[in-house]
Amino acid sequence: MAFVKVGSVSQLTPGSVLEAEIAGNSYAICNVDGELHALDGVCPHAGGPLGQGALHGATLVCPWHAWEYDCRTGANDFDPDVKVECFPVKVEGGEILIDVPETGAEAPVAG
Ligand code: FES
Repeated sequence: MAFVKVGSVSQLTPGSVLEAEIAGNSYAICNVDGELHALDGVCPHAGGPLGQGALHGATLVCPWHAWEYDCRTGANDFDPDVKVECFPVKVEGGEILIDVPETGAEAPVAG
């Protein structure tokens, strides 16, 4: 795992979602009342882009068919066994960094 920069805090106001792509994988970063959460950006239902979803409180809504996930845990609201992976997030110097799996020989490049 390695922390990778995905954007600045000023881009991600409370209640908004940021889509980030790192080494071909997409991630959704949510700001829930100032608390940041990072999830896998691919919806387990049919691959919808969760990073383009809408945030209602702590619930991230997939833009394709409106499946809902708790962005603090990744759990689907209807079936908690359906989960998207969550990743650690930190803020340094106004930048958002998420801790994602290393993907191979090359270091991931921040978008
Ligand atoms: S792809 Fe996300 S709800 Fe269908």
